[in-house]
Amino acid sequence: MLKITRNTLSKANGQDKPYIWVAYQGMVYDVTKSRLWRNGQHYEHWAGQDLTEELKDAPHTKAVFDKFEIIGKLE
Ligand code: HEM
Repeated sequence: MLKITRNTLSKANGQDKPYIWVAYQGMVYDVTKSRLWRNGQHYEHWAGQDLTEELKDAPHTKAVFDKFEIIGKLE
């Protein structure tokens, strides 16, 4: 599986690249197609980072990632 550094991930933030990625529990998900992640922003959260800890504050479970493709593994 593709290994993605934090530096590469940080550019997939909805501003610097045409794609939007979010890391959760070591996996990097492509959320570009989500209306809820437009411009890399989701409520008070920003893409291009590892949001594992932040999911604890969410009103939903990790099941929200099920329909998104895994791009690779966070290095
Ligand atoms: C204040 C914190 C948050 C709020 C209020 C929030 C709210 C929501 C709502 C209302 C939805 C759509 C309904 C649902 O699936 O339950 C959603 C979907 C989603 N959330 Fe969150 N969320 C929060 C934090 C997070 C965090 C930290 C992550 C990432 C670790 C995340 C990832 C997602 C994803 C991937 C979806 C699916 C988007 C889609 O289906 O297009 N959320 N969130």
